[in-house]
Amino acid sequence: MKIYTISQNTINNRRVYSNSTTPQKVVNSTNTNSTSRLTQPKLQRVPANLSLVYFCGLIPAANRLSKSDYLISEYIKEIGKARYLHGDKSVVDLSMGNPDLTPPEKAKEALKAKVNDLWSHRYNNPKGEGALLDEVGNWMQKRFGVKINPKTEVMVTSGSSDAIDHIFTAYTNYKDKVLVPNPGYSLYDDLITRHDLKKEQFDLKPENGYLPDFSKFPDDAKILILNYPHNPTGSFAPKRVFEEAVKWAKEHKTLIIHDMDNSEVTHYGRKPVGIMQVDGAKDVAFQIHTMSKAQSMPGLRVAFTVSDKENIDNLLNAKYLSGGSVYVPVQHATIAALKDEEGYINKINKIYRERKTLQSNGCTDWEVR
Ligand SMILES: Cc1ncc(COP(=O)(O)O)c(C=O)c1O
Repeated sequence: MKIYTISQNTINNRRVYSNSTTPQKVVNSTNTNSTSRLTQPKLQRVPANLSLVYFCGLIPAANRLSKSDYLISEYIKEIGKARYLHGDKSVVDLSMGNPDLTPPEKAKEALKAKVNDLWSHRYNNPKGEGALLDEVGNWMQKRFGVKINPKTEVMVTSGSSDAIDHIFTAYTNYKDKVLVPNPGYSLYDDLITRHDLKKEQFDLKPENGYLPDFSKFPDDAKILILNYPHNPTGSFAPKRVFEEAVKWAKEHKTLIIHDMDNSEVTHYGRKPVGIMQVDGAKDVAFQIHTMSKAQSMPGLRVAFTVSDKENIDNLLNAKYLSGGSVYVPVQHATIAALKDEEGYINKINKIYRERKTLQSNGCTDWEVR
């Protein structure tokens, strides 16, 4: 088997970074295989009798485009290119949490079954299909023991990244402060850049079990992002952390996003706590779950968010600003995945546990948690 490795250098070498504060032009390379590059504008003279000077790449891109390293997108793009050039089987992708297992059988069946429905191909309710909202209600009760009103307290989005994007649109103004975990998931930074917000990191240290220290938080943050189980350390937060978070958020008028991306990818049947399990959390918090990880459906782009009616209405208004909704067959696949009649979650967790054991046995000098 041929293994195509992609290193950070490969990615960095593809892009010309600029420290300039002036906007840079995006000029397409003549090589169709290469990525767009940020380069200095190119001046070209045309014949004198035309009396004009033509600037190639005249319209400067927004400053925010030069503020990201586009790490995640670059990885995804490079992997797509390697698959195209060398075939799917040649790629061993260790770059990011991109499941290499296929979705639950029942989810795939539900997806196929809905493809022939007329209503699957029309504009649909941006909030989500009624049947999926109801299923989320059942799932929240079964999984967390939390009763929500599925009609008013849930919204479906195109992945959790999309949910966070809309939450920022709904709640922030220019340069509002967003608190993000360090270490943490890099797309939070990109969304902060996209919305012209101010990032402030809070450190998660091993000696504190990677838990936040609220006494060190600033008074003036608009949004706090909590991500447990935590990417990249895999640590869990106990309920008392969320109780403290809700109390702190109410005192400081800060909105909390609890990103539970990996809530179901756990070993030995552990069930991480969700912020909605804290009384009164709905007033100040969103809890987000994606189908990208435990259900192996990242390509289908679907997630859901739970909060109180007022927050969900704000989120929905933010979504209206950009339009769009999740493809109906994908929502029906999500219903089947949440029902999990085939015990899919247990099966994938067993596979991941076996891989973890293999890795920790093979890499004796690593601490694998
Ligand atoms: C912590 C965290 N949040 C959000 C996401 C994005 O997930 P989605 O596919 O739902 O947009 C990821 C993906 O790796 C993640 O690790």
